[in-house]
Amino acid sequence: MEYSKQKSTKKICYFLDTDENASPFDINMAYDAGFDVVVPYNNMTADKVPKLVQDAIFSRKPNASTAFFIGGEDTKEADKITKKVLDSFVSPFECPVIVDPRGSHTTASAIIAKIIKTAQAHDINDLSGRKMVILGATGPVGEIGAIISARLKCNTIITSRRKQYIKDLARDLNKKAGDDASEIIGAVGITDDDKIQLLKDADIICSVAKAGIEMISKELLEKLQSKKIVVDINLVPPYGIYGLKPNYDNKEIYPGIFGIGALAIGNLKSKIEKSMLKEASNSRGKKIFNYKNAFDIAKKLLKIN
Ligand SMILES: NC(=O)c1ccc[n+]([C@@H]2O[C@H](COP(=O)([O-])OP(=O)(O)OC[C@H]3O[C@@H](n4cnc5c(N)ncnc54)[C@H](OP(=O)(O)O)[C@@H]3O)[C@@H](O)[C@H]2O)c1
Repeated sequence: MEYSKQKSTKKICYFLDTDENASPFDINMAYDAGFDVVVPYNNMTADKVPKLVQDAIFSRKPNASTAFFIGGEDTKEADKITKKVLDSFVSPFECPVIVDPRGSHTTASAIIAKIIKTAQAHDINDLSGRKMVILGATGPVGEIGAIISARLKCNTIITSRRKQYIKDLARDLNKKAGDDASEIIGAVGITDDDKIQLLKDADIICSVAKAGIEMISKELLEKLQSKKIVVDINLVPPYGIYGLKPNYDNKEIYPGIFGIGALAIGNLKSKIEKSMLKEASNSRGKKIFNYKNAFDIAKKLLKIN
């Protein structure tokens, strides 16, 4: 029997996930964006990377369509994995690397882009110097949201229930955001009294805590002074901000307070991720796809600067 020689044209995505089960969300997204094969690796750690990456790249032509996608809840390990993947490439066997642990880069990009679009609808064309408070910001989405916010020069406050953790996190995020960014400040936000002090003069509030946790109650909402944009990304009731339903998009939920809900964010997030994965699947050579590309894509999709 004669076999025809197959060209190495298949688009292959190696999905390195720190979680016990690689996320089906991202696997589906990668297929839908045009990868022919997605190979998930669970419980991924940085020490396993070099052998795996080099087996993947040396078995194909240098310009073959091979990509690595880094996912998972453990963002610190995901950072180490990303660095190891890049360090394991041997020229000219280099590939695109997509970084989006727990959807953080694409979701945070969607949040900030929607805020800009909403602000523009209220004649606010520049967010620099505006106060943005990110409630429950110690998860992957909050971390990247804080970096993008600081790079836009917003006065950025991130909150947690853990005093030392949020201080340490703010220090790490300031390093990642870079010298040109405004300073990210960590604060404790547990009680309504804590929160009102942080929120009363905020221009923008994002609730990005764990699903099913109400971060702004009816009583707290009523104490906020008006003229604010508020965002909630929690799709599981009770929602993160009282009165803000998932499908709301620039809807006045209280006099002067305009809300963007989890579905409005989620719809944009999915488009961003699909577009970023598609671009990565058509790229060759070493290129990192992270929140910087995701935010550019988000702005293009919403036709904003
Ligand atoms: N709409 C979308 O498209 C979309 C996409 C991705 C994710 N999400 C949603 O985004 C949210 C954040 O996800 P994530 O993975 O970044 O974060 P996460 O790890 O689920 O949670 C973030 C933080 O919430 C805080 N938290 C947990 N329980 C709390 C409680 N009882 N009271 C107050 N704070 C509490 C914790 O902070 P401290 O312990 O430091 O206080 C935790 O680090 C989730 O609701 C997720 O479902 C939405």
